[in-house]
Amino acid sequence: MEPSRPRLPLLLLLLHFSLLASPCSARWRDGGGVGDLRESFLRCVARRSPATAGDPSRLVHAPGDASYPSLLDSTIQNLRFASPRTPRPALVLTPVTADEVRACVVCCRAHGLTVRARSGGHDYEGLSYRSLGRSPRFAVVDVAALRAVRVDAARGVARAEAGATLGELYYTVAEGSGGRLGFPAGICPTVCVGGHLSGGGFGPMMRKYGLAADNVVDAEVVDAEGRLLDRAAMGEGLFWAIRGGGGGSVGIVVSWTVNLVPVPAVVSAFTVHRLLLRRGGHDEQSLLRLLTKWQAVAHALPDNLFVKMSMEAKTINDGDDSTRHPLVTFKSLFLGNCSDMITQIDHHLPELGIKPTDCREMNWLQSMLYSYGYTNGQPAEVLLDRTLQPKDYYKIKLDYLTSPIPTPGLIELLTKIVEDEDGSIDIDPQGGEMSRIPESGTPYAHRSGYLYNLQYFVKWGGDKNVSYEDDHLSWVRGLHELMTPYVSKNPRAAYINYRDLDLGQNVEGNTSYEEARVWGEKYFRGNFRRLAMVKGEVDPDQLFWSEQSIPPLVVSTRDAGLVSDS
Ligand SMILES: Cc1cc2nc3c(=O)[nH]c(=O)nc-3n(C[C@H](O)[C@H](O)[C@H](O)COP(=O)(O)OP(=O)(O)OC[C@H]3O[C@@H](n4cnc5c(N)ncnc54)[C@H](O)[C@@H]3O)c2cc1C
Ligand SMILES: *[C@@H]1O[C@H](CO)[C@@H](O)[C@H](O)[C@H]1NC(C)=O
Ligand SMILES: *[C@@H]1O[C@H](CO)[C@@H](O)[C@H](O)[C@H]1NC(C)=O
Ligand SMILES: *[C@@H]1O[C@H](CO)[C@@H](O)[C@H](O)[C@H]1NC(C)=O
Repeated sequence: MEPSRPRLPLLLLLLHFSLLASPCSARWRDGGGVGDLRESFLRCVARRSPATAGDPSRLVHAPGDASYPSLLDSTIQNLRFASPRTPRPALVLTPVTADEVRACVVCCRAHGLTVRARSGGHDYEGLSYRSLGRSPRFAVVDVAALRAVRVDAARGVARAEAGATLGELYYTVAEGSGGRLGFPAGICPTVCVGGHLSGGGFGPMMRKYGLAADNVVDAEVVDAEGRLLDRAAMGEGLFWAIRGGGGGSVGIVVSWTVNLVPVPAVVSAFTVHRLLLRRGGHDEQSLLRLLTKWQAVAHALPDNLFVKMSMEAKTINDGDDSTRHPLVTFKSLFLGNCSDMITQIDHHLPELGIKPTDCREMNWLQSMLYSYGYTNGQPAEVLLDRTLQPKDYYKIKLDYLTSPIPTPGLIELLTKIVEDEDGSIDIDPQGGEMSRIPESGTPYAHRSGYLYNLQYFVKWGGDKNVSYEDDHLSWVRGLHELMTPYVSKNPRAAYINYRDLDLGQNVEGNTSYEEARVWGEKYFRGNFRRLAMVKGEVDPDQLFWSEQSIPPLVVSTRDAGLVSDS
């Protein structure tokens, strides 16, 4: 009996390992020989990238390596996906030049790995570094080290590498232009331009200058064949797709060249709050009137005036009792001085009752910090801190409004917001330049007629009991459900930079365009078909695959009604 005893457990152990497809045991045929993924990959990049040949291990990090966990975790922003249960990539690759990005792409293809690009790791569903499948047959190509920003103030352009943060871009643009130029993009300084511009990028200057992606004039992309292409080389189809079609689908952006925009020496801003202590009475009536008036005007204000609204729950301790009340905040950015802004507000939205003491003047760079929430005149260098945004647990959903929410809907919002102390809602007005760009001008389709976007957040700190996750998720999904009657329909629109896997996802190994239309047309409306056709041309084998990558649509010339002599 004795000698045969270990056999069964050993067999079970082996079975167990192969079912989990442990990356450490990953084996395949490489040039006739069977080798370890890491060693074979090292040889491949050394061959492909002479500059790396001396020390390829600087570029390649496998699960057994000491460098792997810290590199993988470095920019995981949503701690929900930092858990040990999250399926990990087979390799983390850390190129520092465009040539190394090319080598990574070619070697991933040669080793049967799909590729997920990562710049800043802010993807709300973590798709730049995690898979929902069981088998880690993908590599993360992390371009965080490619982060140079060069400003040519005379020509009014900047070149920013994918791993540059918005904070670094804003700071360098302001410094390089003596404060004359700015760039319209999002408010979170740690978001990287690699993902952000790939998905659009909205922020407090969008009413004047559109999305970040609307201001891209050139780019360098490594395609699925490992070629480095600029705008002329990639052609207008691919160049259209990368400006809002979402990251991670058609190539790895190495750098963007963007048009900078003029900003005045003085801009101004206010932040004012309305706390609703008693429901059902006069205070609520007057708040509802203000919310209704704001919805009527905020999308139609002069382009240089952006007034956003947010809601959250405020806990008030009242003796032994602590109760939550709706807190509504209005926050502005005006590209001009306080006296001009107050004149505009008094004209369009007098119900807000803005006083000169509510208004603050500052330069544009400071206003980017202010919009993010650093409202006390902190030094602009804060924008250079790549870890400024605290890592948290969160879930986000987003809707668009094509007509104002009527009073009953507003009352439902005020009721719902106090149900979760970690929940909040941001409503950003569009209009202005956002509605003048044609729907098919870029992949971002929510243009004319889309008045506002509503962002439903629930975010809880690492110190809080993680088992509350289910409650938070059901609150934010319930809120989204509650708003159904009031928001855009057919399709119920969504925004790819606010990725939401509740909308649907690709099936690994059987990704279908028809199935993907369910979520794809929510993000892109009719532009989804064109994106899928570009994907079909540039990456039909889906080297760049994720749960929400664009599926390839290869239309035969006969079906498309086109004449081709090939
Ligand atoms: C705190 C916070 C605040 C935010 N605020 C705003 C805001 O104000 N406005 C707004 O519009 N959005 C905002 N976002 C959303 C943000 O714009 C997107 O999540 C964006 O895609 C993040 O880019 P990243 O490079 O940091 O993230 P990543 O997770 O690295 O990438 C996001 C997606 O792009 C792909 N990708 C990354 N790098 C590249 C590349 N070089 N080439 C091709 N594809 C790439 C990834 O594979 C992934 O699919 C915010 C997000 C967070 C977490
Ligand atoms: C504000 O700016 C306007 C120009 O738009 C200027 O005419 C006015 O004098 C400025 N007011 C103050 C108080 O600086
Ligand atoms: C976390 O919360 C759950 C209830 O939601 C509770 O059962 C559990 O004991 C809590 N755990 C800790 C460590 O507080
Ligand atoms: C793949 O997807 C298509 C369309 O959804 C479906 O008809 C087909 O049965 C699927 N094939 C497999 C092998 O699952």
